[in-house]
Amino acid sequence: MLFTELESQISALTTASAALEPTPAELISWQEAADNLLREFIGSLSTQKTFSPSQPRTLTDFDQEVGDSDSPQHLLAAVKNGLTGSGISTAGAGHLGFIPGGGLYLGAVADHFAAGINAFTADAYSSPIGVYIHNQTVRWLADLIGYDDLAWGDVTSGGSQATLTALCVARDASGIKPRDYANTCVYLGEHTHHCSKKALDILFAGDLQIRYVPSINYVMDHAWLANQIETDIKKGLKPWLIVATAGSTNLGLVDPISLISTLARKYKIWLHVDGAYGGFFKLCPETSAMFSGLAEADSVVLDPHKGMFLPYGCGAVIFKDGSHLGRAFAATGSYLQDRVNKSVSQRSPMDYSMELTRPFRSLRVWLAIKVYGTSIFASALSEKLLLTRYACQKISALPNIVIAAPIDLSIFAFRYQPASGDLRSRDDCTKELLRKINLHGDVFLTSTLIDGHFVIRVAVLSFRTHIQTMDSLVKIIGEESLSITMSLKS
Ligand SMILES: Cc1ncc(COP(=O)(O)O)c(C=O)c1O
Repeated sequence: MLFTELESQISALTTASAALEPTPAELISWQEAADNLLREFIGSLSTQKTFSPSQPRTLTDFDQEVGDSDSPQHLLAAVKNGLTGSGISTAGAGHLGFIPGGGLYLGAVADHFAAGINAFTADAYSSPIGVYIHNQTVRWLADLIGYDDLAWGDVTSGGSQATLTALCVARDASGIKPRDYANTCVYLGEHTHHCSKKALDILFAGDLQIRYVPSINYVMDHAWLANQIETDIKKGLKPWLIVATAGSTNLGLVDPISLISTLARKYKIWLHVDGAYGGFFKLCPETSAMFSGLAEADSVVLDPHKGMFLPYGCGAVIFKDGSHLGRAFAATGSYLQDRVNKSVSQRSPMDYSMELTRPFRSLRVWLAIKVYGTSIFASALSEKLLLTRYACQKISALPNIVIAAPIDLSIFAFRYQPASGDLRSRDDCTKELLRKINLHGDVFLTSTLIDGHFVIRVAVLSFRTHIQTMDSLVKIIGEESLSITMSLKS
């Protein structure tokens, strides 16, 4: 190709792709469109249905609304209508299913800002201030757990990725090689979140000895655990890892961390604590004692997109001895040789993570702490603790309703109890009750199995959930349980 031809082709392609850089007018109009849609969305949250089981917007509705438009304003409006007209309104006060959070708007501002600047915050050489902000965030999370200066960790996409990181580091720190897998014992609780088993399957391809520790009152039976560890040692096996939970997904209950950490220390077993849901309740005076022993754990997972109400995509993992994390993920390539800059003395996230390029997700946590301080989160979480007890007390007074388990944090479970002689089983009635509650669309609840039986969970963790939502919940449960009682009698 002639040089002039090359120049003219480059020029044509530059012109063809020039629209990738918005004009100042486009920038303003996109921004305004997004802001208006979000203002509308947040302003209408209190009147939006929490769950849209009847006539939800279908995929065809969405495709039709999108049409062949290429206008960002039009497309964002279609996305907003699609997201709000179907499924669960996870940002709303009535979301009491799974694990809510709400999504602090400040987190959305942080994300928008971070993506607009697109700093490469994996590396201090590239973004000293971005990395400084990330490192301050990690330090704050380590302090919250009660760790000393040795601790280090990372801010991840969520609890599952944080757990995979934790167990990968635990494996390497314990020197476990493939030839050891079949003799290596792991102790999970009956209520351990499935992300731990998933992480173990990814890391060990199912080749471990996994023990499910039975529960007493739905938390780990540490005496059983102690016996099992002894038995495993006698069999010549290697007890390696205990996963305890500080706030179970099913019931919000906290394993006896202090007792378990004493066992872990005695037998030199890695203790990992999953505080993805419950960890931030350590900030509350009412519940902080439940977390005693947390700082003895070798690794802890926290989810700021749960307990700090931040938008989805923000978890964290912190290690008591952060050097393990650095060793597990130390790797580099010649294409990165320029990053070595002696004037930069900070730790770079890429050296403590399986990720290289990452979104600047720490900015959400950092901004929230700077703007709001810590005590506001303690107040909001204490409010959730009280709302849980308030609703539970009222619901337990309803006829035919039985609370299924004790309460530690902000989740409780209940079931419908038919009068003796009724032919329909209590599981069938409880399932029917859940269906009827969710049909209202004002609140959204989910279920789980406790002792093999169907129960309905109430999980109070959105910063937008206040006493009015609890009152509507109690009213709906009262009405719908009565309608089941009437239908059983007829
Ligand atoms: C106790 C617990 N651990 C881990 C997870 C997984 O976290 P994520 O959904 O952020 O991956 C959850 C999610 O609900 C959880 O409740």
